[in-house]
Amino acid sequence: MTNALLTTPFTARTAAEEVIDGVDLTGRRAVVTGGASGIGAETVRAPARAGAEVTIATRRPESAGPLVHELTAARGAGTVRAAALDLSDPASVDSFVRTWNGPLDVLVANAGIMALPERVLTPGGWEMQLATNHLGHFALATGLHPALRAPGTARVVVVSSGAHRSAPFDFDDPHFERRPYAPWTAYGRSKSAGVLFAVGARRWADDGITVNAVNPGFILTRLQRHLDDETMRAFGVMDGEGNLTPPPFYKTPLQGAATSVLPAASPLSAGVTGRYFEDGQEARVVRGDEERPGGVAAHALDPEAADRLWEYSSTALRTTA
Ligand SMILES: NC(=O)c1ccc[n+]([C@@H]2O[C@H](COP(=O)([O-])OP(=O)(O)OC[C@H]3O[C@@H](n4cnc5c(N)ncnc54)[C@H](OP(=O)(O)O)[C@@H]3O)[C@@H](O)[C@H]2O)c1
Repeated sequence: MTNALLTTPFTARTAAEEVIDGVDLTGRRAVVTGGASGIGAETVRAPARAGAEVTIATRRPESAGPLVHELTAARGAGTVRAAALDLSDPASVDSFVRTWNGPLDVLVANAGIMALPERVLTPGGWEMQLATNHLGHFALATGLHPALRAPGTARVVVVSSGAHRSAPFDFDDPHFERRPYAPWTAYGRSKSAGVLFAVGARRWADDGITVNAVNPGFILTRLQRHLDDETMRAFGVMDGEGNLTPPPFYKTPLQGAATSVLPAASPLSAGVTGRYFEDGQEARVVRGDEERPGGVAAHALDPEAADRLWEYSSTALRTTA
């Protein structure tokens, strides 16, 4: 039997704070990776303003200074701090986990990099997009599992992307050792891995931990920094003079963050796990090659692939750390 899709009153245009309007998060503790910029910064603002204590996990804690300052001055906001985390470095993830103290209610795996033009490897030999977007977050979430188990109601959100649709996870050659490197395939695979992680985490259901994946939609942020002007023009987000021209369906970071805040903190998604949301709704399942945009590909929801990925990721961490 399949579960009915979760629907909400929210749309692609809903702002993050509207999703938790009237929700008091005082006493809740959250970590948002990549929370110093873009969608992540708005994913920090909304829960913090609702009273949550939020840790911004970032490679450069000083870059979170203005946001920490802003929220520290905001009336009724919870405590906000920044902590160092480089997801591509297992030692950095380990250090973050070891210094974490006490329970954790919400983990938003938001940090990410997209379409690096050349194949870059971490010192441990992992392809950089897979290392940052999936393996680093896998290490973080599993390392923080005891802290997530403690409240009995913790929520994990993995920020995926519509790019997952065209790139199932490749268990045979995850780091492009044998096949030619392709920037978008690498990104898409890492985002399929994020959805599969949410499915594989059904093993945490008895701990009261829910894990869901989201697609924030199209938003101009620093994420596009590896794209050249030609690609930006082909996407219709840059004109001939180099001006940014986002089409009407592009969202603001505040609207993109709304879909993360829904499974992270809304009462509407309490107890819901292993799902994929976009535009404030649970997405329909689509074939990877379907032309209509949106939806979640069946390959990313496959429970067998999810378990296999969990095993693969655990082994990768054990053998590389
Ligand atoms: N923007 C879109 O259209 C779009 C669409 C679909 C999905 N997404 C996803 O949304 C998420 C947020 O992206 P965004 O658009 O807000 O872009 P962004 O502003 O570039 O944010 C990405 C964040 O990831 C952090 N990060 C990158 N590498 C890291 C590492 N090794 N360790 C720790 N943090 C790292 C960056 O922080 P520092 O560089 O400061 O360390 C940055 O704060 C990403 O997962 C992205 O794939 C975005």
